[in-house]
Amino acid sequence: METTHRVFVGDSRDLSAVDDESVELVVTSPPYPMIEMWDDLFTELDPAIGDALAAGDGYDAFEAMHAQLERVWDELERVLVDGGIACINVGDATRSVDGSFRVYPNHARVLEAFEERGFEPLPDVLWRKPANSAAKFMGSGMIPPNAYVTLEHEYILVFRKGARSREFEPRADRRYEAAYFWEERNRWFTDVWTDVTGELQAIDRPADDDLRERSAAYPLEIPYRLICMYSAYGDTVLDPFWGTGTTTLAAMCAGRNSVGSELEDAFLAVFDDGIDEVPALSRSVGRARLERHRAFVDRRRGEGKGFEYEADYYDTPVVTKMERGIRLREVRAVDGIEDGYRVEHAPLSLE
Ligand SMILES: C[S@@+](CC[C@H](N)C(=O)[O-])C[C@H]1O[C@@H](n2cnc3c(N)ncnc32)[C@H](O)[C@@H]1O
Repeated sequence: METTHRVFVGDSRDLSAVDDESVELVVTSPPYPMIEMWDDLFTELDPAIGDALAAGDGYDAFEAMHAQLERVWDELERVLVDGGIACINVGDATRSVDGSFRVYPNHARVLEAFEERGFEPLPDVLWRKPANSAAKFMGSGMIPPNAYVTLEHEYILVFRKGARSREFEPRADRRYEAAYFWEERNRWFTDVWTDVTGELQAIDRPADDDLRERSAAYPLEIPYRLICMYSAYGDTVLDPFWGTGTTTLAAMCAGRNSVGSELEDAFLAVFDDGIDEVPALSRSVGRARLERHRAFVDRRRGEGKGFEYEADYYDTPVVTKMERGIRLREVRAVDGIEDGYRVEHAPLSLE
């Protein structure tokens, strides 16, 4: 099996390089409005944003930043197939503007924008970033009532384009082979992820401190899970805020096609520097899933519970009939092509 991964340097407010209804899943994390590290970028997209911030008008700046993101959401509506899913990772911002501290609820604003475009919201996920600052309560003091809660969670908002889910031909292999294990389902489809450890780290991070800071990359585990949850083999995953390419890396490991667009060309070179590590990474991701499944089998047997089914491709029992066809894949080879990569996949090797 082969997949392709296209990456463009460009502004995702215009995604004309991506055809209408050619994408089954979007997994992305935009720059978060009202988080200071993105002020300059938003001001480049619309100079009125810098003016609003300088004038101490936080709400106007917030609205104007979302207006820029909305132009990308318009494009998602165009390129997604009916029933396709969009997963948007976003955090709220807290900020003092003109002496007034408040929260800017990005998640609520993004949700509203997607609903206006005919997307149906599905249950979302909250996840907690692995690293917390020891100094997080500094400044809030020990006396009521003027201290504020520290935001440590982010949202993964999930939307379906239109009212109807995608349909597949009966017993489609590309869907059944992409099944996940029962215990993975129980962890992944839970609404609060406290187990994103960041251990499953992407291959390479920018060596340049400034570039690393600007990347705001999410852990590989986030897009990898979402891709396994909401797409089948052969599908195409889009990330219009590509950054260091974590979504593409996850798509490669998960055996899906991908397409991405990113303003900063420096990130593409960093991704390319780590490309040789993808086959080993994909193998370790697949093997780790099987090992965790085997540990689950041992625990369950230890509790005196049995299994009714055997996996077709692995020497292991499974809980449900639907998991029998699971077939994990690994990357065998990656070749550069004009606008990205062609990847050759094979069934996961076990030795
Ligand atoms: C939060 S980061 C995404 C990080 C990414 N998920 C990763 O794991 O590296 C947002 C990225 O979107 C890019 N960006 C912002 N506005 C953009 C636009 N209009 N078109 C394309 N890329 C944009 C920024 O340069 C930044 O790299």
